[in-house]
Amino acid sequence: MNENIEAINLRVQALRAAIELHNYRYYVLDNPTLPDAEYDRLFHELQQLELDYPHLITASSPTQRVGAVPLSAFSQISHRLPMLSLNNAFDAAEVEAFDRRVREGLGAACVEYAVEPKFDGLAVSLCYENGIFKTGATRGDGNTGEDITLNLKTIKSIPLSLPVAHPPSILEVRGEVLMLKADFLKLNQRQLARGEKEFANPRNAAAGSLRQLDPGITANRRLTFFAYGIGLHDDAQMPTDTHSQVLNYLGRLHFPVARECRVVSGLQSLLDYFDAIAMQRERLPYAIDGVVYKVNALAQQEKLGFVSRAPRFAVAHKFPAEEAVTELLAIDVQVGRTGALTPVARLKPVFVGGVTVTNATLHNAGEIERKNVRIGDTVIVRRAGDVIPEIVSVIVEKRPANAHIFVMPASCPVCGAKAVRLDGEAVSRCTGGLFCPAQRKQAILHFASRRAMDIEGLGGKLVDQIVDQAIVRTPADLYRLGIAALANVERMADKSANNVIAAIESSKSTTLARFIYALGIRNVGEATAKDLAAHLGSMDRLMQASSEQLMQVPDIGPIVAQSIVDFFAEAHNREVIEQLRACGVHWDEHAGISASAGVVSPLNGKTFVLTGTLPTMSREEAKEKIEALGGKVTGSVSKKTDYVVVGVDPGSKYDKAMHLGVAILDESGLASLLGSSTILNE
Ligand code: IVH
Repeated sequence: MNENIEAINLRVQALRAAIELHNYRYYVLDNPTLPDAEYDRLFHELQQLELDYPHLITASSPTQRVGAVPLSAFSQISHRLPMLSLNNAFDAAEVEAFDRRVREGLGAACVEYAVEPKFDGLAVSLCYENGIFKTGATRGDGNTGEDITLNLKTIKSIPLSLPVAHPPSILEVRGEVLMLKADFLKLNQRQLARGEKEFANPRNAAAGSLRQLDPGITANRRLTFFAYGIGLHDDAQMPTDTHSQVLNYLGRLHFPVARECRVVSGLQSLLDYFDAIAMQRERLPYAIDGVVYKVNALAQQEKLGFVSRAPRFAVAHKFPAEEAVTELLAIDVQVGRTGALTPVARLKPVFVGGVTVTNATLHNAGEIERKNVRIGDTVIVRRAGDVIPEIVSVIVEKRPANAHIFVMPASCPVCGAKAVRLDGEAVSRCTGGLFCPAQRKQAILHFASRRAMDIEGLGGKLVDQIVDQAIVRTPADLYRLGIAALANVERMADKSANNVIAAIESSKSTTLARFIYALGIRNVGEATAKDLAAHLGSMDRLMQASSEQLMQVPDIGPIVAQSIVDFFAEAHNREVIEQLRACGVHWDEHAGISASAGVVSPLNGKTFVLTGTLPTMSREEAKEKIEALGGKVTGSVSKKTDYVVVGVDPGSKYDKAMHLGVAILDESGLASLLGSSTILNE
């Protein structure tokens, strides 16, 4: 009997390996060697065996790519190494400046670069533990993303297990999820046939598919992945010389790597690569919005380091924005969160940069004057990436006789309050404050937005209705909403009302940085909110801080400091904060503070255990460094341990870490984690 079970187990494993190899050949190499019918036969055999012997099922079995039950919400994953962004270059001069900075930084006459397409998709991080795909996350804000593991598992070009005998205990692969143009067209045909909404472009389709709570839906939308780098790992096999070797290695681990990646030398070859890819762009199977140049030698990358949130050793050379000609039908005035009155151009629909554009921003009255725009004009619209389309210029020769000048209204078109334009400001503002329904709506939408309190389902239409019906006046009212009140809102089904109430409830547990950002204080964006949270550590301290104290926080100047002081000087704002707290909105006051202020540290709040002798650092030294960056060092390994740092002759703590699946680092892994904290401090 046992022998029989053993044989079945071996067969199950052989089937899994064959199926995954076929997936690799089919989805990555585009070179299947197995007829579809044979593949189906193997898959059914595996399914049947797993049905008969359920104890043999593992999470990394190819049968487990689909079939998970829908989630009620995505949970958050904090990236162990932050996911950074790239600086952009928009023309040859900016690329030349990049190459010059690199050469000067390295003291080299000519530099070798790895060059790659810049995929127009969504950045994700894939974590493999002991060779098994364990978790996958979106980039989010770079430090924390959403756990989309189940959706990523449905992507057949992502290996569920690494095809190596001795996999590393941890390997994080980074790359982009996209939808191939052909799959995008098929999806839109399907949407159309079913009377459902078409997607504007492959990127939106990929984003919409990845953010599904039901992995079954994601599985039906064929997505693709391309690897372009690595994150935290302890892989002894990982090449240490060049980025191109790292990509080749990822290819050997069966990750898809773009065929268009090359290694070139010197400025001219960068520009040649850009031109060559621009020529191929239309014919490429996936959408790109430029190319990326990365210094190839890893030692040189390290030497150049990072500035702010982007590496000095890489740049994205973006394709120019796309433009089209259309007619300006009308100019409406929109009221923003801070009362700014923005003229918005209503355009005759025109297809540009992959989407149909009907609106474009005109920024302010001065801009309309400068560009000599009149209603009725024929205009050139530009759309770059996800940025709001804008009017570039007017074709004056085509101006009709009845074209007329736009006049900025003297009062708010929504609440009728006086509109004023302060000295030195380009925009007119409604003076109605939160009494203006438009400002109130925008403030609530901002409060609920993803980077703020993240209340899913509280979108523009719903906010319009609950504010217009005076069900909600301030963000605090959201937390007093009952199902009954929401159910009265037009077209709100019970289920979605319940979902919104649940999302509001779960938003109560937040972070200080998100809460500060959510308040919508003028001039306080997400990064400033994080700095304030990290440095002041508590809401009360922030509310009491003087302008001088606020200016002690790096990057906060007199204007931002004054906006903060003004905000908290308003009794109404303090009251809303008190009400929000009373309704149960809470955060961990000191979670954002790292021991050494100013350092954004992936070690913050993480628990480490040290075992064995480290090659160059003494234990005390390692402990000191970890603690200086906000980490904690404890004596024993448990499920709560984040990392075990292993030296020579480790003790039983190592075995326990392996058993519990805790991330294991060697000294160089620890050093790179320590290093990644300081880079953010530059
Ligand atoms: S490297 C440290 N390589 O561009 C920088 N990024 O602005 C790590 N992207 O969020 C990124 N193609 O989603 C890199 N070949 C490529 C890329 C690429 C697209 C995206 C990525 C990232 C954004 C950075």
